[in-house]
Amino acid sequence: MTAFVSPPLGTTANGTTADGSSATGASADGIWHGLQLAEGLAVADAAMAPTARASIVVQQGQIRWVGPDAAVPPAWQHLPHRQGAGALATPGLVDCHTHLVYGGQRANEFAMRLAGATYEEVAQAGGGIVSSVKATSAATEDELFAQAAPRLQALLAEGVCAIEIKSGYGLALEHERKQLRVARRLGEVFGVTVRTTFLGAHALPPEYAGRSQDYIDLVCNDMLPALAAEGLVDAVDVFCERIAFTLSETEQVFQTAQWLGIPVKLHAEQLSDMGGAVLAARYGALSCDHIEHLSAEGIAAMKAAGTVAVLLPGAYYTLRDTHLPPIQALRDAGVPMAVSTDHNPGTSPALSLLLMANMACTLFRLTVPESLAGVTTHAARALGLQDSHGLIASGRPANFVLWPVAAAAELAYWFGHKPPCTIVRQGRVYGDAA
Ligand code: NIG
Ligand code: FE
Repeated sequence: MTAFVSPPLGTTANGTTADGSSATGASADGIWHGLQLAEGLAVADAAMAPTARASIVVQQGQIRWVGPDAAVPPAWQHLPHRQGAGALATPGLVDCHTHLVYGGQRANEFAMRLAGATYEEVAQAGGGIVSSVKATSAATEDELFAQAAPRLQALLAEGVCAIEIKSGYGLALEHERKQLRVARRLGEVFGVTVRTTFLGAHALPPEYAGRSQDYIDLVCNDMLPALAAEGLVDAVDVFCERIAFTLSETEQVFQTAQWLGIPVKLHAEQLSDMGGAVLAARYGALSCDHIEHLSAEGIAAMKAAGTVAVLLPGAYYTLRDTHLPPIQALRDAGVPMAVSTDHNPGTSPALSLLLMANMACTLFRLTVPESLAGVTTHAARALGLQDSHGLIASGRPANFVLWPVAAAAELAYWFGHKPPCTIVRQGRVYGDAA
């Protein structure tokens, strides 16, 4: 690996200030010279020879110009010059499916599964999502923040510049609210784009056993409208599955979301083909996620609706699933494929998006360019952020990562190791290259 720009003073290895409470990197304004641009993930403003070194101009937190080193317009020459030493520039990573805010952890279930229990059996035995609901309901907002912050920091340290955070471990108005408020606060404190997703229909609270229609009515008539009115909901999701909610219950939630003008997404066809993708596509869903059991009809509907397929290899791995998502059919149909951590305490306690890129290649046979587009461009689309994130291009907020690697494949190749990198997030510099 080549040497690279030293870390900005005042930041620590995980990209936060010394007291760990917030992230206030130095301004990234300047001309970042001598870069390689990751293929397909940057748009140059001037013709670039394939081997030419590139510059990215940042001013007032925005990318102003991208192109060959030799062609930086004179208008920007007064800005500070920063040497990139041949680093590879990618857009800031986007983690488009996480359940990052929750109380406690579920290592006991890991042990149960090692002893032979399936995910569905664990859930039926009162474990699973419902056990995280207990711990989340018992925690204060400050406690949830304190527990989620180091998880977020781990993702940020790897170059994540936008992240989706779902509720769904509250399952009651006040506790869902707590989760979403903590998600918003994480975005403010750490200076990272956070998209909140209301997942009130994640599991049936035990007190509603046998009354799932009553719970869905509560979600649609009370919880979602109240939280939307508080500005806490950027998207709405449902866990549509045998162990969760039916297709018609899912549709009721989607109708409410549509009426409120909020985009939808879906935990679809993870354990069985419920027909969720076809339904979600009818509601113009941003994404269908998991999709191991996605049908040909679902793929065609997603293509027609512009819905992103979100692949979650961490959950596939943890559950020792063997039913692969239909990657070749998605590829043939031209459905954009995103890759995400699905960070959650049950099925994917993963805190490395690059590891997910690696696993998407190794387990799902994505190509390297597909996996890198999956954690950037397509992930941004899965959050409705395609005009501001996931691509290095002028006119966008400055979110990019500089990696001291010789080839883009290294980002998906190494695992169990966080590569040193310099991160520009919301126009501020964080770094740990040494
Ligand atoms: O995305 N599938 C549903 N939700 C999560 C799991 C949540 C949990 O087990 O706590 C997922 O895998
Ligand atoms: Fe999930």
